[in-house]
Amino acid sequence: MEIFEYRDGTLHMEQVSLAEVARSYQTPCYVYSANLIRERIKSYQMGFGAHESLVCYSVKANSNLSVLRLIKDAGAGFDIVSGGELERVLAIGADPNLIVFSGVGKTKNEISRALDAKIACFNVESEQELQRIALIAQEKNVKAPISLRVNPDVDAKTHPYIATGLKENKFGIDIDKAHAVYLKAHAAEHLQVTGIDCHIGSQLTSVEPYIATVKRLLELVAKLNSEGIEIEHIDIGGGLGVAYHDENPPNPEDFAAELTKLIGNRVRKIIIEPGRSVVANAGVFLTKVEYLKHNLDKNFCVVDGAMNDLIRPSLYSVWHKILQVRKSGAQTKTYDVVGPVCETGDFLGKDRQLAVVQGDILAVIGSGAYGFVMASNYNSRPRAAEVLVDADRHKLIRPRESTVDLFVTELNCL
Ligand code: LLP
Repeated sequence: MEIFEYRDGTLHMEQVSLAEVARSYQTPCYVYSANLIRERIKSYQMGFGAHESLVCYSVKANSNLSVLRLIKDAGAGFDIVSGGELERVLAIGADPNLIVFSGVGKTKNEISRALDAKIACFNVESEQELQRIALIAQEKNVKAPISLRVNPDVDAKTHPYIATGLKENKFGIDIDKAHAVYLKAHAAEHLQVTGIDCHIGSQLTSVEPYIATVKRLLELVAKLNSEGIEIEHIDIGGGLGVAYHDENPPNPEDFAAELTKLIGNRVRKIIIEPGRSVVANAGVFLTKVEYLKHNLDKNFCVVDGAMNDLIRPSLYSVWHKILQVRKSGAQTKTYDVVGPVCETGDFLGKDRQLAVVQGDILAVIGSGAYGFVMASNYNSRPRAAEVLVDADRHKLIRPRESTVDLFVTELNCL
């Protein structure tokens, strides 16, 4: 399906003109393609074929309720990492039995609420967390379903901030220690061991590190099964990368098929927690050119979107493609695309060839994941609007914050 294409010189998402979206809702705003999101979930589901499986979309990548709802309707469950994400998925009517709870720092309240909601599984990251869950489950006189997040010590070969499967990272339980912890969990009256879990990093562009990880996990599964500890599911985490620039990751279907082949009937059910690969390339960030500024040896395209809206270029030095929504007849120049925030690190792209005039709209591609969710109010900037496109329709799914929203909850006192 062609999700983005120029028609009569204007960039369209599905059948909707992005110029019209910018006119209707103003800029900066995020725009998401419903059909691309549906397609990506389906692609994973196809890859697993007849093997019992569950796609638990990782809510952190994009947690707008309308986005979550369409992902739920596509038959997916959810991977959450906080009480806030739990409330979001419950608010859209997600089946608790399709929710897994990851994260290194689950609080007592979060665990208690998740137990009351009867989620499918806690992905446990430490022995202390295991003890805490057991205690709270005992107080409630229930059995908490758990899997251990095993740190396999595999190099995911990605940005150091988003690599999680190495011994030196804070995540998971060392693979060498996991067996002993499983024995403890199995013996605990208020814990129910159901699975094994891992997540080795994000924006991974090849299947090899996953294969290495799953092989290690399967060895442990075989050992546990032989000891009468049944591992019903293997959760291979998220992390499949997308093409922002010239990366060439496998598509979800091929990726899932390859892992399914490896796992075979050694584990009954496969869970996956994709975030980025579902929503990244289904989203664009629209921003308007406020000023063109020419210094001695640099051209700056100053736009109304900034690092507070989309922090990925500033934080990880990553590249997002920037397209003009409408091509103008202006002269092409090399620009740094920068925002109004008072930091030199506030840029959306550097050294970009653009033929722009003041007032033009730019689309920052690949912004559907870790875009709006990482936005802040830095420089007291209201957060951007969010819009969903579905075939030939578009609708506002989160209005732009107002300047009153910025401080309405603050107390103006001494
Ligand atoms: N499961 C767990 C336990 C995770 O920690 C993550 C992401 C995922 C699943 C989903 O990973 P994905 O499929 O989206 O790669 N803000 C960074 C990415 C941080 C990822 C954190 N964990 C970025 O903008 O690149």
